[in-house]
Amino acid sequence: MNATPHAPFPDGFHWGVATAGHQVEGNNVNSDTWLLENVPGTIFAEPSGDAIDHYHRYREDIALLASLGLTSFRFSLEWARIEPEEGQFSAAALAHYRRVLEACREHGLRTVVTYHHFTSPAWLLAAGGWEDPGTPARFARYCEAVTEHLGDLVDVACTLNEPNLPALLAAIGIGGEAPEHRASVPMWAAAAERLGIEARRVAPFQFTASEAGFEVKLAAHRAAVTAIKSSRPDLMVGWTLANSDIHAAPGGEERAATVRREVNERYLLASRGDDFVGIQTYGRHVFDADGLAPAPAGAPVNQLGEEIYPQGLEATVREAAAVAGVPVLVTENGLATEDDTQRLDYLRAAVAGVSACLADGIDVRGYIAWTAFDNFEWIFGYRPKFGLVAVDRDTQTRTPKPSAHWLGDTARSNGAGIGPAALPA
Ligand code: BGC
Repeated sequence: MNATPHAPFPDGFHWGVATAGHQVEGNNVNSDTWLLENVPGTIFAEPSGDAIDHYHRYREDIALLASLGLTSFRFSLEWARIEPEEGQFSAAALAHYRRVLEACREHGLRTVVTYHHFTSPAWLLAAGGWEDPGTPARFARYCEAVTEHLGDLVDVACTLNEPNLPALLAAIGIGGEAPEHRASVPMWAAAAERLGIEARRVAPFQFTASEAGFEVKLAAHRAAVTAIKSSRPDLMVGWTLANSDIHAAPGGEERAATVRREVNERYLLASRGDDFVGIQTYGRHVFDADGLAPAPAGAPVNQLGEEIYPQGLEATVREAAAVAGVPVLVTENGLATEDDTQRLDYLRAAVAGVSACLADGIDVRGYIAWTAFDNFEWIFGYRPKFGLVAVDRDTQTRTPKPSAHWLGDTARSNGAGIGPAALPA
């Protein structure tokens, strides 16, 4: 990739937005997450239901994203649709995703495809999920089938999304229950009953922070890379990490160092040798003598009550390049807010941080914002608005916000005029 004269952004830089199947498609009924949303004692604020019906509306959605000027679309495939029962692959589901990929081609969007974005088939959960030693082979078999059928239309492959998210959440005091404590959590107990297994064996991807979970995810990633490369040796393959910018306030140095090591560096070290690492950063976490520090008094916060801190992305990109030593692709970055002006300022500052990295010679391949459309934000339901495009879920009408036009225009000019100077102090 050659540098363009007007900006540090290289030719071929990915400018895009991301989605994940379960958050937009609707009625992902064979998935473990659908099951968890609908058991008694669920911690999900509401079920995903029809979501934004992207499963049926993908053509208009893709056309809209391309019309904004974006160059790339990151989305995920739903394993629960492709392999609804163990060993039974759905030709219809594979054909559906082929049509999605073809629509991207028609509209000139490059495809960044995530093979696993948190959700798994319910049968996998019944088999011990992401702590079962058999899961890497099951995942590799699925990756092989997918790549055989769809690989020719994939530009970048992401194996697993945020294997380190549970470790980050556990570090800030959310979830990550050890197997022996799961029976006391109503959602796990109810899921276990539904699946006919012991509660200690309930191990969904996005909630499993155990050491066994780390080993299984790492082995699954490695097996997936081999499976994908067996039919597309030339394909760029990596995984995508939830890396927060970890800071220490006085007294919190040791805790911050531990979190940085266990949540960020451990996974970055495991990315060495991959074609790239995907970095997904939303802000920072500060640790002081009492543990996680609250947002500084008076600091603007997002809809989830966290400090708005776009500078975090530059720090995590630098850290990723230094520790993993492979090219970096920003595969998610965004803000939950009802105020799109706030989002636009956030995106502008984050992209300026990326430009500062590029100016220092760091190999960053793209900036993909989270997220294309307002959608199902997991346990928080539909309230948080991360979308660059608004969706009226009663009519399923899509309306691009100013931030969507800004990112599209930025893509059209390949970042002209965006430099490190746009970073807030
Ligand atoms: C996930 C997305 C999620 C986003 C915002 C990331 O952890 O990959 O699925 O919606 O953050 O919370």
